Amino acid sequence: MIEYRTLRIALLGAGTVGAQVAKLLLEGGDELGARVGARLELVGIAVRDLDAKRTVDLPRELLTTDAERLVLGADIVVELLGGIEPAKTLILKALNSGADVITGNKALLAEHGPELFDAAEQVGAQLYYEAAVGAAIPIIRPLRESLAGDRIQRIFGIVNGSTNFILDRMTEHGATKDEAMKLAFELGYLEADPTLDVDGYDAAQKVAILAGLAFHTAVPLSAVYREGIGDVTPEVVERARSLGYVVKLLGICERVTTADGLEGVSARVYPALVPQQHPLTAVHGGNNAVFVQAEAAGDLMFYGAGAGGLQTASAVLGDVVSAARRHIAGGPGVGESTHAKLPLLGIESARTRYLITLRVADEPGVLATIASIFAEQGTSIETVQQTAAAGADAPTASLVIGTHHALEAALAATVEALRASSVVTDVASVLRIEGA
Ligand code: NDP
Ligand code: HSE
Repeated sequence: MIEYRTLRIALLGAGTVGAQVAKLLLEGGDELGARVGARLELVGIAVRDLDAKRTVDLPRELLTTDAERLVLGADIVVELLGGIEPAKTLILKALNSGADVITGNKALLAEHGPELFDAAEQVGAQLYYEAAVGAAIPIIRPLRESLAGDRIQRIFGIVNGSTNFILDRMTEHGATKDEAMKLAFELGYLEADPTLDVDGYDAAQKVAILAGLAFHTAVPLSAVYREGIGDVTPEVVERARSLGYVVKLLGICERVTTADGLEGVSARVYPALVPQQHPLTAVHGGNNAVFVQAEAAGDLMFYGAGAGGLQTASAVLGDVVSAARRHIAGGPGVGESTHAKLPLLGIESARTRYLITLRVADEPGVLATIASIFAEQGTSIETVQQTAAAGADAPTASLVIGTHHALEAALAATVEALRASSVVTDVASVLRIEGA
């Protein structure tokens, strides 16, 4: 009989994800241990409230409210509390006591990643975070390891499961945003503070993490331009559909070369119109899909469950196995590489396309005036669709104008000039088009 070494695992949190991690560890720990060559022992689970109702029946004797004490005796600490504190302090304590740490906490990584990675490197430990982006989808390890020898140009896709679920329910089932949010909550997709999802913070945190890995540059959350889904009403979804598009909240990061030849990183999150034939429009419910364009590898697509307790637990368990193997093998952990230190560019440097819906006076010369506004700002029009809406005294028309790719700065200036024009009654909506 093989005598395995025992590795002590401390779990912080038994909520949507933590409870599933505990269940998988308790039920399948022996099998995982055999894969690793160690006995994996779940030594305790830190929670706030010992008596809280949980989605999984957990042995009472494992629960504790003393997270600090639990962390100190562990070889591997799994942090699934969420938020900045006490998660940050506990992770630093764990690393400094020699434990490897696994976290799904993108909020913490996007705000304090460099400090945590430094702490891990100082003591030769490792911080694993596969669950922090794309939940069940392996995307961190492919970027960190499989694609480490390539040069990534662009990453874009759907990185927030709950807003994808909400927009999908609005698009496919005609649900209101509130109805869809209630369902997303019941499915465990939303963050403890749902504004993190709907206002685009969660997606921005993930984009910051992906951009850092892809471009070997520390990308703070503040460098990610962010718009949430607050302005996406059923009317916007319907108008998009009538024009052949689906509204998706997208996360994008890419290498951009500015007019003066400077190469930098553009990182952004916003709702955008995606053409109905694009594969992203087939990403339904709480799923995520991330496209990676790399110089040598070409186009890659990563798809799967982007939220949910059990699905996320899969990524966490994968990290547990990696951490356990590293513990057994010994040697220092592998740090993050941020050597490239590329400049971080603002939204104005991005090249995008707009679809602008205007209400204008329906009279001679109006179209020419509108066209001259676009020309003055150097914005090239690709499509124009006019619908007449005749009124008794002042006939008006609805114009839907699609642009070619242009610098965001020029597009924004065009919209500003349209708003100021006397022939424009209303700029009804301005949406970016991506994936066309
Ligand atoms: P939950 O809010 O469902 O669970 C949080 C858990 O942490 C609860 O068990 C809670 O205890 C415990 N907790 C919170 N604060 C403390 C504290 N101060 N001391 C002790 N225990 C505490 O969160 P999730 O499981 O949804 O998310 C956990 C992490 O995983 C987050 O970082 C999230 O961003 C990330 N994540 C979540 C995904 C998802 O689909 N839900 C997907 C990918 C990542 P108690 O139960 O007693 O209140
Ligand atoms: N709230 C997050 C989402 C969970 O909706 O994507 C997964 O990170």
